[in-house]
Amino acid sequence: MLGGHILHGGDYNPDQWLGCPEVFEEDVRLMKAAGVNCVSLGIFAWAALEPEEGRYELDWMDHIITRLEQENIQVVLATPTGAMPHWLTEKYPEVMQVQADGRRNLPGKRHNFCYTSPVMRRKTAEIDRVLAKRFGGRKNVILWHISNELGGNFGDSTCHCELCQAAFREWLKKKYKTLDNLNSAWWNYFWSHTYTDWEQIHSPGPYGETTSTALVLDWRRFSTEQIADFCEMEIRTVKEESNLPATANFMYFFKGLDYNRMARGLDIISWDNYPFWHKTKDEVPTAVKAAANHNIMRSFKKEPFLLMESTPSGISWREYNPLKRPGMHMLSCMQAIAHGSDSVQYFQWRKGRGGFEKFHGAVLDHRNGKNTRTFHDVAEVGERLARLSSVVDKTVNRPEAAVIFDWENWWAVEDTQGPRLDLKYTDWILAHYRAFWEAGIEADFVSMDADLTGYRLVAAPLNYMYKEGWADKVRKFVSDGGVFVTTCFSGEVNETDLCFTGRHPLEDVLGIVKEEIDAPSEEFENRFSYKGTEYPARCLCEIGRAKEGTEVLSVYESDFYAGCPAVTRNSCGKGSAYYLAAGADTAFLRAFYKDVFEEAGLKNALGTELPYGVTAAERTGDGRKLVFVMNFNNEPVSVEGIGRWTDADSGAVCEGELKLREFQCVVLEKQAE
Ligand code: GLA
Ligand code: ZN
Repeated sequence: MLGGHILHGGDYNPDQWLGCPEVFEEDVRLMKAAGVNCVSLGIFAWAALEPEEGRYELDWMDHIITRLEQENIQVVLATPTGAMPHWLTEKYPEVMQVQADGRRNLPGKRHNFCYTSPVMRRKTAEIDRVLAKRFGGRKNVILWHISNELGGNFGDSTCHCELCQAAFREWLKKKYKTLDNLNSAWWNYFWSHTYTDWEQIHSPGPYGETTSTALVLDWRRFSTEQIADFCEMEIRTVKEESNLPATANFMYFFKGLDYNRMARGLDIISWDNYPFWHKTKDEVPTAVKAAANHNIMRSFKKEPFLLMESTPSGISWREYNPLKRPGMHMLSCMQAIAHGSDSVQYFQWRKGRGGFEKFHGAVLDHRNGKNTRTFHDVAEVGERLARLSSVVDKTVNRPEAAVIFDWENWWAVEDTQGPRLDLKYTDWILAHYRAFWEAGIEADFVSMDADLTGYRLVAAPLNYMYKEGWADKVRKFVSDGGVFVTTCFSGEVNETDLCFTGRHPLEDVLGIVKEEIDAPSEEFENRFSYKGTEYPARCLCEIGRAKEGTEVLSVYESDFYAGCPAVTRNSCGKGSAYYLAAGADTAFLRAFYKDVFEEAGLKNALGTELPYGVTAAERTGDGRKLVFVMNFNNEPVSVEGIGRWTDADSGAVCEGELKLREFQCVVLEKQAE
């Protein structure tokens, strides 16, 4: 466990208060009172650290790190490239990003820099080296926090300047070797898009090319590569002077960058979580989304991750920003731990007096010191995490199910012109995962590049793109005994968005032959029955026939494709493959997966049925088994038939029935068998 305990604290931005030493002393005192043991320092502090080019002012940071050390508070030290000082953009305007339409950004906001620019890279390396030299060896500094939310700059995360365009062409040359290869991979014969010179290739943009989906895909891959390379350059630089591990904070369902690629360069995964709690009285959709995102983060390395940011109360960037209702702060913090986090960190410690985020939730508000509901909630979390630290230490989630979540598939399926233009990949992923969550069955979220061994069940909703080798991997997984679930509009194209011709790549495994795909309007909605209950066929209805030997579990009930298979199961080797020809609702997926879980031999850690709004997640290791039972209902519930456990907080024995208060998370513990 990094730092030796569950980290609790968050973004600390004292560079806003350098003229007020009394504020800083109060901060330290209140951090102790709130059970804070770790802060992230210097995230946007470039202007305070280097007020003029080459003139560094580090004493203030030195003083803070020293004082924190005296108080046993650890530091996650940031490189300050999250925002650029004005002297930098004034002297070197070429460091500012160019938009897709060719206009260069003006100074301001944050990020907003070109990841290719040699000047930006040089200036970054200089400040990083200075910081690493001075603070990289300090006892209480435990981790590098590279920049901030890379790629997240209020819009397009990429830069379209001439340097980036040239780098893109070089990247393409390396990938395709010849223009002939590129032209055929991108199908440029259509609409006379054939390139005869590399210089003719431009990044996608509003007044330019947006219709070449293969170009857009490669641009997204290239941009990821460029940003990952920038991040890795920063990591190499700080590591010249210090031995600390490095992270970069990721974001919620962030489509702009392939985080699988980004994750490769990092030692530890961390991310910033801002769920929309209390959007509706039913918190389940929000809880499912947050759980999915935690799982994505954990699955990159299959190791505990860090929750680097979250809000202790409300946020300030949605149209309306509800405060966390009593109990929700603790519950959402515990949810992170339940799904594999070894920290609970906030944005931010103290509200600034001015600036864009002055009304965003923080541990300390503008006027009340520790006398607030938020502070009290935070202190309670601090106390609980300290108590649970040694229990959670060396444990990690090891689910036996996986959901395929792949960025390249995400890009491709949403960019393509197809049966519908409103397909939302994450909606499909969440719809399926919700059935897992409700059953208390955990899942990893992995890309098509992952190793599937060890999983009993793999679900691949809307798996439009099949990457090289993917069909063979699934075939082997199933024939070795795995259960595979997939849906319509899967296995359509390869990695450059070229349609497969001839048989569907998994026709033998799925046992179906696909023919057409309907995207009916609501009035034409079709239906199918599964085990005696009727369900709607939503969004997409694929039409085809089952091959001999394939079990047809449901058929469409109306229209010209009445009688065609809607749900099928095919045994293949030692395993089986399910195919859902139509988009489905929550009720169907709940009923369907109940059967699938049984077939795959998957049960939740309590071995019992969970009431609505309650889920369970399991961490094991070091001879212990922990089950986090979470009630997302704003009312008490009880879970029956749980067996015999110890309550990890109180040490009390808990047997048979577990009563949960509204928004409560109970941690149950057992010696592992
Ligand atoms: C992000 C950023 C923070 C802050 C918060 C506000 O996660 O990293 O600097 O802007 O959002 O929610
Ligand atoms: Zn650029």
